[in-house]
Parts: sequence; C-alpha cells; structure tokens
Amino acid sequence: EVYPTCDSVKNLSGKTAIVIDVLRATSVITTALFNGAKRVIPAPSVDDALILARKFEGHVLLGGERGAVKIPGFDLGNSPLEYKKELVSGKTVILTTSNGTRAIKASESAEHVFIGCFLNASAVAEKALKLALLGEAPCVSIVCAGTLGEFSLDDSACAGLIVDILVRNIEREKEPPELSDLAFACRDLYLKYQSNLKAFISHAAHYKRLLGLGFEKDIDYCLQIDVIDCVPVYDKKTLEVKIVL
Ligand code: MLT
Repeated sequence: EVYPTCDSVKNLSGKTAIVIDVLRATSVITTALFNGAKRVIPAPSVDDALILARKFEGHVLLGGERGAVKIPGFDLGNSPLEYKKELVSGKTVILTTSNGTRAIKASESAEHVFIGCFLNASAVAEKALKLALLGEAPCVSIVCAGTLGEFSLDDSACAGLIVDILVRNIEREKEPPELSDLAFACRDLYLKYQSNLKAFISHAAHYKRLLGLGFEKDIDYCLQIDVIDCVPVYDKKTLEVKIVL
C-alpha cells in the first residue's frame, strides 16, 4: 500500500514502512549514511534539533531546511551534495526538514522503518521483500512525505518504482501481490513516465521551487536510480537512522 502524504498515515503495526521524500530529505539521509555518517537523528522542529545538539555537547553536524533553504546557524542545508564523505564520515548528523523528518516520525508505529528514494530503490525494495517472504512483515507500506500535506509527483513516482520492483520480484516467487488502489496507480504512473522521469517530475510544485532556488544539481542527483545499495533503517528505540548491515 502507498500513503500519499505523511499526514494520511494510519496504524502501521506489523508492517514494513518505506519512507520516501525524494526531494530531498530521504535522498540526503541515504547519501549521508552511504558517505559514512555514524547516524542521522531526525528532529521534528528546529528547537528539537538545537536541544539535541546541546545533549551531544556540539559534537554533531546540524542539517536541514525551512522553505528549502539552510536554517541560520546550522552547519548544513538540505542538499545531498553537501553531505560529502570528508565532511560527514564518522559524524552524527541531526536533521530537521519540513516534510521528510515528519514522515519518519509518522511511520513510527511500523514494525520496521526503512528510508527509501530513487538512489536506493532496489536495495530498499529487496530488504522489505526479504522480510515479507520470511513472514515477518507481510505488508509493505510506502509512506510518501508529500509537500506540506499535499500529494507530490516525485514521491509518488518513486513509490511506483518501488512497487514495480516488489511486484516483479514477488511474481518470481509466488502469485502476484495484492496492491492497494494507490499502489496500483503509482506503479502505472512510474511505468508510463519512466523513460522521461525528469520531464514528468518537472511538473511538481517542489521541483519548481527547488529549481527557482538554484538547486537543479540536487534534482539531477536525486533522480538517479540505484546508485546506492544500502538501506538506512530507523531505530524506534534510539530514534536514529543507521545503516544496518
Ligand atoms: C522536506 O523534508 O520538506 C524536503 O526535503 C524539503 C527540501 O527539499 O529541502
């Protein structure tokens, strides 16, 4: 099943949640951890982020955005290209964003919470499928962050790709899985526009906002498929995202 926005999420107990905010929070988290960050702690508000940073006595990188731009006094904004190996390796990152970090919190009732984006689509789908086939979490819920409570084309297209990977892999093992109406629609959407993804996503409101702010390189980076093969996992006990090998 697919949830179109983080505000629409229902109880996810017993399910695997894959949280998606393609532009750009989950692409940032995936990149930061792939580049060696020790952990990413999602913080709901700027104040929460500052309080957490104090707990770590400042030995952290503060990252995030409001209105898509860097928060004054923070070390990093919300551009995945900023989260380079030389900067983040071995570091704790505290991240607060307008939609993505809220979507992670909204998914806390799930049995497993994974972070997904185009960059790691196959890896995250395979990890969720493995658990489903083991009977551990037979239902996969894809939670799209959306944009300020609204449906977004970028997250939905990515959800469609992940649904497609899941369907193709399950069909190899057993009969086709049951899809919710929205999962079916997102898959169809992705399959229709896969050869021209950027042109399709260019109609998204958040795409236009980022383009206007000069973040086209971020968009091109975030629309790459399967360039990262790791899966960030949100630990509900420690409230942090890590790569679990
Ligand atoms: C968010 O979490 O709202 C987004 O990642 C915003 C952004 O692109 O900076």
